[in-house]
Amino acid sequence: MIKNLVKILNLTPKEINEIIDDAKEFKSDIKSSKVMGKMTALMFFENSTRTKISFEIAAKKLGMEVINFNEKISSINKGETIRDTLENLYFMGISSVIIRTAEDNLIDNLIDSINYPMKFINAGSGKASHPTQALLDYFTMTEHLEEIEGKKVVIVGDIEHSRVAKSNINLLKKFAANITICAPEYFKPKEDLEVTYTPILKEALEDAKVIMGLRIQKERIEEYYDEKEYINNYRLDTKIIEKYAPEAIIMHPGPVNREIEMTSELIDSEKGQTILEQVQNGVFVRMAILNKMLGGES
Ligand code: CP
Repeated sequence: MIKNLVKILNLTPKEINEIIDDAKEFKSDIKSSKVMGKMTALMFFENSTRTKISFEIAAKKLGMEVINFNEKISSINKGETIRDTLENLYFMGISSVIIRTAEDNLIDNLIDSINYPMKFINAGSGKASHPTQALLDYFTMTEHLEEIEGKKVVIVGDIEHSRVAKSNINLLKKFAANITICAPEYFKPKEDLEVTYTPILKEALEDAKVIMGLRIQKERIEEYYDEKEYINNYRLDTKIIEKYAPEAIIMHPGPVNREIEMTSELIDSEKGQTILEQVQNGVFVRMAILNKMLGGES
């Protein structure tokens, strides 16, 4: 059983495939809930639309009770620590939390410091990790490609500040995808992610089967970057996709900054529909995760 879901690196390929298979069954309406009546809390310390609402829908479809923790009107604003807050929630009957943090390692620190068997699901931590996004992205890829092994997956944009890129890379490596990242020097990751890197978009796109755009993470950027230069050299549009990677599916975790990371023409085209498929699949993947993690005795 998966105790906590903090990073993709902690999942085996077998566990990932089980989550994807369960998500497929939830999507086909042939799997039933093991978590009916259980309670979970959403604790989001950063903004969210897709992740927060899809987790809430997933939990409700499974017959769970969902508590929406609102930091702004909580006693954290009176000086209570997150650790104390969580321990209080545990004693009210909440034994799992779905948590988004601005810090990279806060969830690991909370798991280490809490004295009670609370389960944690990472809904996005700083620029480090967004495991459920990578799982729903992988699910979406499997619906379009027979096999991911050896297929060229290109991730374009603000790799350095993107938790989505890092979790996707960690997942796709487990399935031997051929990963290329494409970014200007200022968005190139500082750590070596052990994938192919090129700053030239046309070179990156050639033979790609999956092209994933990323949101420019303005809230995390401290260095200089040039938006006009980015648009000129890295914005994805219909013409460049048609020319260099006509077979590729187009993905983006959202929210998209229209006309910066991708043109509206591309987003609103038939190819751009995959971005909304990702959002739809997020509900089923999150149902699979909640059912798998919280469906046992503890
Ligand atoms: N993809 C993603 O994490 O979107 P939200 O920030 O809207 O949850």
